[in-house]
Amino acid sequence: MSILVTGGAGYIGSHTVKELLKKNYEVIVLDNLSSGHRELVPGGHFIQADLCSAAELKKVFSDHRIEAVMHFAALIQVGESCADPQKYYRHNLLSTLNLLEAMLEAGVKYFIFSSSAAVYGEPKEIPIREDHPLNPASPYGVTKEMVERILPDYDRAYGLKYVSLRYFNAAGADPDGQMGEWHQPETHLIPNILLHLLGRNPDFQVFGNDFPTPDGTAIRDYIHVTDLAIAHILALERLRLENSSQAINLGSSRGHSVLEVIRTAEKVTGKKVNLKFGPRRPGDVPVLLASSEKAETWLGWKRNFSELEFIIESAWRWHQRH
Ligand SMILES: NC(=O)c1ccc[n+]([C@@H]2O[C@H](COP(=O)([O-])OP(=O)(O)OC[C@H]3O[C@@H](n4cnc5c(N)ncnc54)[C@H](O)[C@@H]3O)[C@@H](O)[C@H]2O)c1
Repeated sequence: MSILVTGGAGYIGSHTVKELLKKNYEVIVLDNLSSGHRELVPGGHFIQADLCSAAELKKVFSDHRIEAVMHFAALIQVGESCADPQKYYRHNLLSTLNLLEAMLEAGVKYFIFSSSAAVYGEPKEIPIREDHPLNPASPYGVTKEMVERILPDYDRAYGLKYVSLRYFNAAGADPDGQMGEWHQPETHLIPNILLHLLGRNPDFQVFGNDFPTPDGTAIRDYIHVTDLAIAHILALERLRLENSSQAINLGSSRGHSVLEVIRTAEKVTGKKVNLKFGPRRPGDVPVLLASSEKAETWLGWKRNFSELEFIIESAWRWHQRH
């Protein structure tokens, strides 16, 4: 089966390309390299193109036989999306509409969408189940929610079958060390701790130690990027079998506080973090945890790499070499 992977030169996309190739899928990677890196793409046929250009996209679909699409390409910085929402609506929403249009024209029926825990906003109950109301707190989250709201209409009207995968916190690096997290700027906790330990910044700032959690720091649900990648393949296989569109959380129901992550990073690396506490950032909630029940039952998903220590070990191997 031949799969178009948009954003396949990015962090989660490149790890998914690797898993698809291992399973003998034919892979076409489309990326404009705005934040991705050609060196991260582990194989397949690479096309540098921009999803905002409907013409470029249509050419890709007419030049290649494509049977399903995994859509990772997006801008991902919550803070930037508040400062410049137009950029996010163009890159995350307009681009997705272009992609769906090209798919429909080419008769491609299967779509796996990179959604996010950001669609939920402040949780009303923990762990968050898929039927929790969607109330995103940033333009980034709104772009993901809007795509999720569009998809059922495309299913009803055009028979497009989709799975929206709502990732919680993607983390870690390829267990073989081939690729890892490479965002510029880096806004995620684990790579920033490791970059600090490699001497990038003199101290490491924790945003808020007065949350109503046991140690006062925020608790999040970390999933190894290879476990996420594998979930995409399970989602596609299941979708083809059941022909029924779904939204599914990818999380573990288990959380770690910022301090717990820091202590684990110190243990793994044998280095000491120079901690500074700062105020909470606007919009940060105390606890975000996914219910993983649907991913386990509908997808048959198991997490093989998502122990915190392994997540940090694999990321540390990548960051030291990179
Ligand atoms: N990293 C996380 O923890 C996380 C959590 C929830 C959801 N997500 C979602 O997962 C997806 C992948 O995230 P990531 O961390 O791998 O991000 P990333 O920035 O590493 O990868 C995104 C890729 O998309 C490409 N891209 C962006 N705009 C494009 C366009 N208009 N045309 C073609 N290519 C374009 C970039 O060059 C990049 O390679 C995103 O949709 C993101 O919103 C990520």
